[in-house]
Amino acid sequence: MASGADGQFSEDFIEEFDELLRWRRDVRHFKTDPIDEATVESILRSAELSPSVGNSQPWRWVEVRSPEPRAVVKETFARCNADALNGYRGERAQKYLSLKLAGLDEAPVHIAVFCEDETLQGHGLGRATMPETLAYSVVTAIGSLWLSARARGVGVGWISIVEPEAVCQALDVPADWRFVAYLCIGYPAELAAIPELQRTGWQARTDPKARYFVR
Ligand SMILES: Cc1cc2nc3c(=O)[nH]c(=O)nc-3n(C[C@H](O)[C@H](O)[C@H](O)COP(=O)(O)O)c2cc1C
Repeated sequence: MASGADGQFSEDFIEEFDELLRWRRDVRHFKTDPIDEATVESILRSAELSPSVGNSQPWRWVEVRSPEPRAVVKETFARCNADALNGYRGERAQKYLSLKLAGLDEAPVHIAVFCEDETLQGHGLGRATMPETLAYSVVTAIGSLWLSARARGVGVGWISIVEPEAVCQALDVPADWRFVAYLCIGYPAELAAIPELQRTGWQARTDPKARYFVR
């Protein structure tokens, strides 16, 4: 029986799952090879299995195929990235300038992710006191998508260096859709077990003990 088929997972699967977590990367360097639609669909189908407050499933995926909105996203990224650079000085600024923070030109698939803030699904359960849990639910789905893609050899890059209003306007989404992420998806140009920002000396991972507290 396949691992997980009876709700139980083998030691081998657990080891492989940890490897998947280790090898998931934020990807900015993509091959331009297309990804077939069935693969994209299967990745999105896995993401649909994510948890959501009240089972509201508030994520909305917009696959951006047209050149016009893609151009708007590139423009807003360029603007925001230049603004972000202005926030650094000296060596940090030099380093920031050398980072590649988006694979917009090469990634064959672009998906903008939104949260439907006024969704009726879930009947408001769990979000009356913490409305932000709707957006948190969308983030869990992106996490699942990231892993599901990587398991299939597909890389995902999360872009947040954009103006949400510009993206919403370019994609003409309903007024209650909140922009959460712009994802570049494609086959990675390289595989790496270490985050790119660590490899380039921007920010390494730190000791998990510093983030664990007992009260
Ligand atoms: C909410 C969020 C927003 C992010 N935005 C960007 C971004 O705009 N550009 C970028 O290059 N990486 C972005 N990243 C990716 C992080 O830089 C990356 O996850 C981190 O450096 C660790 O690397 P890893 O994902 O390869 O482990 C984002 C990640 C998250 C979770």
